[in-house]
Amino acid sequence: MDSSYPPRIQHLYHELLEQKKLEMAMLRLDKVHPLVSGNKFFKLKYNLQQARNEGKSTVLTFGGAFSNHIHATAAASQMEGFKSIGIIRGEDTDSKNPTLAYAKEKGMELHFVDRNTYREKNTLPVIEDLKQKFGDFYLIPEGGTNQLAIQGTSEILSSETSAFTHLATPIGTGGTLLGLAASLLPYQTLLGISVLKGEFIRQELDNLAAHYQVQSKGQVQIETQFHFGGYAKWKSELIEFIRWFWKEFQVPLDPIYTGKMGYAIWEKIKNDEFPPHAKILLIHTGGLQGSQGFTHRTGIELPYSFKVK
Ligand SMILES: Cc1ncc(COP(=O)(O)O)c(C=O)c1O
Repeated sequence: MDSSYPPRIQHLYHELLEQKKLEMAMLRLDKVHPLVSGNKFFKLKYNLQQARNEGKSTVLTFGGAFSNHIHATAAASQMEGFKSIGIIRGEDTDSKNPTLAYAKEKGMELHFVDRNTYREKNTLPVIEDLKQKFGDFYLIPEGGTNQLAIQGTSEILSSETSAFTHLATPIGTGGTLLGLAASLLPYQTLLGISVLKGEFIRQELDNLAAHYQVQSKGQVQIETQFHFGGYAKWKSELIEFIRWFWKEFQVPLDPIYTGKMGYAIWEKIKNDEFPPHAKILLIHTGGLQGSQGFTHRTGIELPYSFKVK
């Protein structure tokens, strides 16, 4: 999988930033590839290479009804010539929602499982059962996080990003944060904004870092106060912020991940939590396809239109 659009750093200007003597920019990973956007490009890259090296012709993965990972895996698999199977949480899930309709269009075979089975998806009996049903496959975990995903996300930062002192990313399963942490420079601080409710994420990230032997030369700071009620939950302040951000900067943010990250960082700027002369880089991890699902679920229109081929 090649990136046809090198990620671009978009500098963002605002009088508050000037007042506080700060610089802010967005790393537009949402533009890294026309079909496989954001962190998903980096998470899937080495996994699909590995699937090919192992001689597999089918990729199987898991996700919820509006999952960015399902959307990206369907597109990337088709592009790379793999058959793809998506195991979707919830037997009652609407298979016509924009995410799943797109995955189907990209050739993904969808199988809906009840929430109890879904919870057990990493256990041997469930995986054996899937093998009985579908034959041999290359398994990519939910959210795409594994060793090869971390190898991929450790390539997000580059010499271009070395001028920044503070970086920010949303956290779901943690693979993106760990890859970024592995490639931080000693003077850089990475702020991870959890989109899930609860402090458990700190322990989970420690466990993952130990498991995948990730060490960082920089500082990693986890923020757990910006979940807006939990995963895929939202409040009107978040939607207002996304609208405002679009108006000010013409950068689309999604309500599940990048909107929460953007909100958190802007709050911290307002509250003087960055030292003067900090250079802040927000990492746009993509996920804009989820905005269609958000509107489908809530009826709330977002200010930008997002169409994927
Ligand atoms: C758009 C977007 N941003 C951020 C994340 C969080 O990434 P991770 O699961 O690696 O923490 C996800 C989920 O994978 C995502 O879809």
